Amino acid sequence: MEGRAVLKEKICVYPGSFDPITLGHLDIIQRAGNIFDQVIVAVAKNPSKNGGWMPVAKRKELIYSSCRHLKNISVDSFEGLLIDYMEEKKASVIIKGLRAVTDFESEFQMAQLNHQMKPTVETLFMMTSPQYAYISSSAVREIISFQGDVKELIPQVILEEVMNYRKNIT
Ligand code: PNS
Repeated sequence: MEGRAVLKEKICVYPGSFDPITLGHLDIIQRAGNIFDQVIVAVAKNPSKNGGWMPVAKRKELIYSSCRHLKNISVDSFEGLLIDYMEEKKASVIIKGLRAVTDFESEFQMAQLNHQMKPTVETLFMMTSPQYAYISSSAVREIISFQGDVKELIPQVILEEVMNYRKNIT
């Protein structure tokens, strides 16, 4: 209608390896979902990580199960440059979680490189909630490999599946 602004849906992309999704990731997804109309959780198919611990399809399944209670979250995967994927999705905001100073250097570099390649895409950082600041997917994988308990580290709904997955691959 003339004179009326058409409000555009605010979409953000939360990219990562999610191998597997942790409570720290879920915290960021939930909080991003409170700010944006749509959050696309995008699993990177990273050739340098040699296929990863879990196949991408399994990682997506686990993210989907963990986020089923949230209305505005979708799960996807991408290959290649993140900024190309942003273009494909017509999204202009990348969400990243920051746990500690150790994350800062690499995240700063990635944000700068992405900005240099595509200045219209913004990277926004969210500080991880303190109770999850020590959690990482690599720590989860290591604890599981020694049959340790990860129930405080990953979403409850995927706990059994992740533990069974581990039993089946060893
Ligand atoms: O969970 P991770 O492993 O820290 O996520 C890193 C990820 C997947 C977000 C990053 O490696 C990425 O964006 N990969 C896609 C390739 C790309 O765009 N590289 C250029 C930025 S340096």
